[in-house]
Order: sequence, then structure tokens, then C-alpha cells
Amino acid sequence: MRTTVAVVNSQGADFSLEEVELGEPQADEVLVKIVATGLCHTDIHLKGFLPEEMFPNVFGHEGAGIVEAVGEGVTGIAVGDKVVLSFRSCRTCDNCTHDLVGYCDSSLLLNYMGMRMDGSTTYSRDGAPVFGNFFGQSSLSQHAIAYADNCVVVDQSVDLTKVAPYGCGFQTGAGTVLNVLKPTPADSLVVFGCGAVGLAAIAAAKHLGVGTIVAVDPLESRRETAARYGAVGVDPSAEADLPEGGVVAKVKELTGGSGASYALDTTAISAVVKQAQQSLRVRGTLVALGLGAEEYAIDAIDLLQTGKVIKASIEGDSDPLEMVPRLIALNAAGEFDVDDLIATYPFSEINTAVADVLAGKVVKPVLVW
Ligand SMILES: NC(=O)c1ccc[n+]([C@@H]2O[C@H](COP(=O)([O-])OP(=O)(O)OC[C@H]3O[C@@H](n4cnc5c(N)ncnc54)[C@H](O)[C@@H]3O)[C@@H](O)[C@H]2O)c1
Ligand SMILES: [Zn+2]
Ligand SMILES: [Zn+2]
Repeated sequence: MRTTVAVVNSQGADFSLEEVELGEPQADEVLVKIVATGLCHTDIHLKGFLPEEMFPNVFGHEGAGIVEAVGEGVTGIAVGDKVVLSFRSCRTCDNCTHDLVGYCDSSLLLNYMGMRMDGSTTYSRDGAPVFGNFFGQSSLSQHAIAYADNCVVVDQSVDLTKVAPYGCGFQTGAGTVLNVLKPTPADSLVVFGCGAVGLAAIAAAKHLGVGTIVAVDPLESRRETAARYGAVGVDPSAEADLPEGGVVAKVKELTGGSGASYALDTTAISAVVKQAQQSLRVRGTLVALGLGAEEYAIDAIDLLQTGKVIKASIEGDSDPLEMVPRLIALNAAGEFDVDDLIATYPFSEINTAVADVLAGKVVKPVLVW
């Protein structure tokens, strides 16, 4: 069939709305008519990072839509179902069967290679392949091919525009708090980088009643949004307003003097990750979530003397089939209030959406057809 996609034709190019050919869904595939797709920083990063031979490429991994067809091997998903699309996993390897689908042995092949396991691509143009299958969806498109392992069936009453980002950004931030850190009201959390991922973490921390939440971000708009969840903002660029010792000293001051129980980094800036480590109290835990740095600076002496833990997480250690419905239920109960983080754009405005999120004008752009 013919469908329209927001394709990136070469490394670093803008998105371009073009018609391509989409093949019939294979036995294990689900054809989804996309209603809305969130834009994650990972789309923006990888469209400027993947090697030139992986273009043209269709990104998009926060799709939500309505099932139009299912392959004969697919069970549990029917035509007409509303689905939120997330990342793929094989669901049979050791990590998958131990509830760690984000660390699936086949994760790279299933999510990032631009093609099916058999080497074919879902999209083509004038007979030439167009790379897709990004997170098993490539949903910056009017129609996408997905799989039973990354299609989360949701209730017909759900507004797909609001839940599209649950497939990655919101799930990652919230999952890091709910699955990985599990803070109590007696704990404190400092978030470095308050975009969609950081703010979803803050919303989840508010839900858990975490006593002190600190939001570090140079963008005033992001700190203001964090304040709506009860977070205290710190501007790392306002050096004159910070005590001696800078951001680290300020976070310690705000967290009772000894430092935060937990820290989270979404900036992927090496020096910021080091600040996040130094902001922790003894035996505190830092989770680094950002993509893009090749190396992080670690304060080795501080690490040794304090028994701190530095770890990373894929998608907040979530299984989307469990976490997406859980977050939708929390949201419906008024407990994970992230609706206001979303700004919708028609797909024709996708490049404006990219510019706006990079400038901090919006938190989570969601493209709608
Ligand atoms: N681990 C995962 O599974 C996973 C999932 C989704 C996204 N990601 C990654 O998470 C990161 C965040 O994604 P996002 O969509 O929220 O991006 P975003 O660009 O909206 O947020 C990043 C924030 O960091 C802030 N920042 C910049 N410099 C800073 C500094 N010196 N100190 C503090 N904050 C600073 C920016 O102002 C911005 O608000 C990206 O790298 C993305 O690729 C990882
Ligand atoms: Zn697996
Ligand atoms: Zn993402």
C-alpha cells in the first residue's frame, strides 16, 4: 500500500513528508494506522548520528494508533484495537523471561537495524529500500508495521494523542522511579535535565510522595514545569546565585545537607553526570538515562569513600505491556499527571516541533495526522 512517512533522507537532514510503499504485514506483524506519534530526543539524536548508509530512514518510536490488519501468527490483537507502540523484545531469551525485556539479547537487531531480521525493509521507494523497523515501528508515518511484543492494547476510551509518549519517554522517566529507584517519602530525588524523561520521573516521584524533589535545568520553562510537581528548581547556569561549590552545594543544601538519596541524569553531559554523582548522599544511587555521551567523568575517590551506586537503565527497566497500562491507570486516577507536558503539532509541522523542543518551548511534541 502507499502511505505517507516523515522520512530523513540523509544524516542530519530535516524530516520530509513523502509517499512510500509499505509491504503487507508478515505472519508475526501488525499493521497500525497511526493517530499520533510522540517525538523523543532519541529520534533527534539518531537522525544526526547513524551512518550515512542507514538513510533514508523513518524514525518514530512513540506511536499510537488503530490496528488495521494482523498477520496470521498474531494472537491477542484484533483489527480495530487501539494500541500504544513501544520497543521490541524477543520474550524468549534469559533476560526477557526474567522480566528484563529492555535488555533482550536481540534488542539491537529488533530495534535499531532498520530492517526485519530477514534483512527486508517494511518501507520502500521506487523499488529501493527505505530503512524502518525503528523500535519495531518507525511510526513517524501514517501506517506502521509493529509486532505483538511491542503493541500494547489499550481501552477504546483512551485518547491516543495523550498516551503516545507512554511508549518511550514517559515510561522511561516514570519506570526509573517506580521500578529502579523506588523512593519513599523519606527520600530525596534530584533530576538533572528536565525534559520529557526527567519530568515524567518527577511526576512519578510526586505520585510516590517523595519528600524533596530538586529539578536542575538551565531552561526556566522546564524548571517552572517541574515546580508544578512540587520540585525546587536549580539553574546550573546562574553561577552568581549558587553557593560556593556550585550546583552540587546547592543540591546538598536543598536535601538536608548530606545530599540526595537518588539522582537521575537525562543530559548525557559528562560533567553533569559527575555533578549528579557528587550531589548524592552516602550510598545514594544515580541512574544515567541520556544517550549521546561516549564516556562519563566519575569522581573515583568520592565513589569509593561513599559507596555510591552509578547505574543506567533502558526504558526505566519497564516491560511496556505492563508499564503502559499501569501509567494510563495512574493518569486516569489523577496520579501521574503528564497531560500538560504534551504539545500537539500536525505532521506537516514536524520540523517546527523539533526546533521548539530543542529550544525548550515545549516539553513533549506529539505529531498528529
Ligand atoms: N535510557 C532510555 O531508555 C532512554 C529513553 C528515552 C530517552 N532517552 C534519552 O534521554 C535523554 C532525555 O530525553 P528528553 O526527550 O527528555 O530530552 P530533552 O532534550 O527534552 O531534555 C534534556 C534536558 O536537559 C537539559 N539540560 C541541558 N544542559 C543541562 C545542564 N548542564 N544541566 C542540567 N540540565 C541540562 C535541557 O535543557 C533539557 O531540558 C536523551 O538523551 C534521550 O535520548 C533515554
Ligand atoms: Zn529477549
Ligand atoms: Zn525514546
